[in-house]
Amino acid sequence: MAKFHALTVTAIDKTTRDAVVVTLAADPADQAHFDFRHGQYLTFRRAFGGQELRRSYSICSAPGDGPMQVGIKRVDGGAFSGFANTELRVGDRLEAMAPAGSFTTEIAPEMARNYLCFAAGSGITPILSIMRTVLAREPQSTVTLVYANRSMNTIMFREEVEDLKNRHMGRMTVIHILGRDAQDIDLFTGRITAEKCAALFRYWIDLPRMDLSLICGPEPLREVITDALLSAGMARENIRYELFAAGQQGRLPRDRARLAEVGGAQAARLTLTLDGATRVISMAPGQTLLEAALENAIDVPYACTAGVCSTCRCRVISGEVEMAANHALEDYEVRQGFALSCQSRPLTAEIEVEYDH
Ligand SMILES: Cc1cc2nc3c(=O)[nH]c(=O)nc-3n(C[C@H](O)[C@H](O)[C@H](O)COP(=O)(O)OP(=O)(O)OC[C@H]3O[C@@H](n4cnc5c(N)ncnc54)[C@H](O)[C@@H]3O)c2cc1C
Ligand code: FES
Repeated sequence: MAKFHALTVTAIDKTTRDAVVVTLAADPADQAHFDFRHGQYLTFRRAFGGQELRRSYSICSAPGDGPMQVGIKRVDGGAFSGFANTELRVGDRLEAMAPAGSFTTEIAPEMARNYLCFAAGSGITPILSIMRTVLAREPQSTVTLVYANRSMNTIMFREEVEDLKNRHMGRMTVIHILGRDAQDIDLFTGRITAEKCAALFRYWIDLPRMDLSLICGPEPLREVITDALLSAGMARENIRYELFAAGQQGRLPRDRARLAEVGGAQAARLTLTLDGATRVISMAPGQTLLEAALENAIDVPYACTAGVCSTCRCRVISGEVEMAANHALEDYEVRQGFALSCQSRPLTAEIEVEYDH
């Protein structure tokens, strides 16, 4: 079951004009639910105008190192991020699911690895958690961060990144790329493009020495950086990424008529196993697995409903589905039969899925 637990807000710090860092504490009985891996996120739920919204925020602190924190950047007109930046108060309770997500790394203290991280804007949050963890727990590894922002005063966690660099002198390199503010080195100003990446790899970053690349930012930027890394010789399996949004629907109600038009016009019988209980339900043409489950009051997990976060991951045991978008599952997971239920529509009349994996 998609279980939510209350967290208490113990501090709110404004890091830039448009972002807050929210410190959260679990109740003693819920502590175990909130053990997390570096790079994972929390999904919160809250009602806005009588409608429940779920929004995910990456944990920016490192496991076992101080309290759990998330950094929330205000999006223009955004419901949850606006609320967090203006109305949320110390002492408030927020409902959150246990940490989730697979944007993380294996930690091996004896290894000497070189990590190349790219973050844009609020995309720094999971990267910060990963960098903090790697630098603390792999004493021979190094981290290079390429951090893209509009201007100096919009940089989230600027001081924390500097502190980290100073604490791990010689093991961390930071390159700030600023869209608007001119810098001493021309290469560090403007948008990140294929040419800029190529120049960075030529003059500033010794790519053949890098073992793993981690990217968090908007999708077009992720594509540019991934292509540049591949062209410069990095193997695809050494590139990992997290997206925060890809055409996320915001609060717009779904247009059922349009939904029926876009593929998956197949009605189907869905057998669904969750928490050891199996139910058989009918799916209307055009419905996703998630929509069918929710319509039948089955409390399956979900968050973004945009194919981005993977909270709704299920395994297809029999039958076939088609995903409209997949920004979260790796190819090998798809080969193993995993699917995002918020994006999956049936291609066969009988589908069997399970969430207990
Ligand atoms: C795995 C993951 C991790 C994430 N981590 C972070 C993080 O660490 N930090 C962070 O800041 N963000 C993070 N995000 C993004 C975050 O989840 C939200 O998507 C973001 O904060 C915007 O949510 P919101 O409710 O404020 O905006 P929404 O209300 O969803 O609005 C989004 C946009 O849609 C527009 N909109 C809203 N309603 C309507 C409407 N009715 N009609 C037309 N347009 C509308 C808004 O103006 C806005 O531009 C993460 C996302 C994912 C998937
Ligand atoms: S709910 Fe986020 S990918 Fe389906």
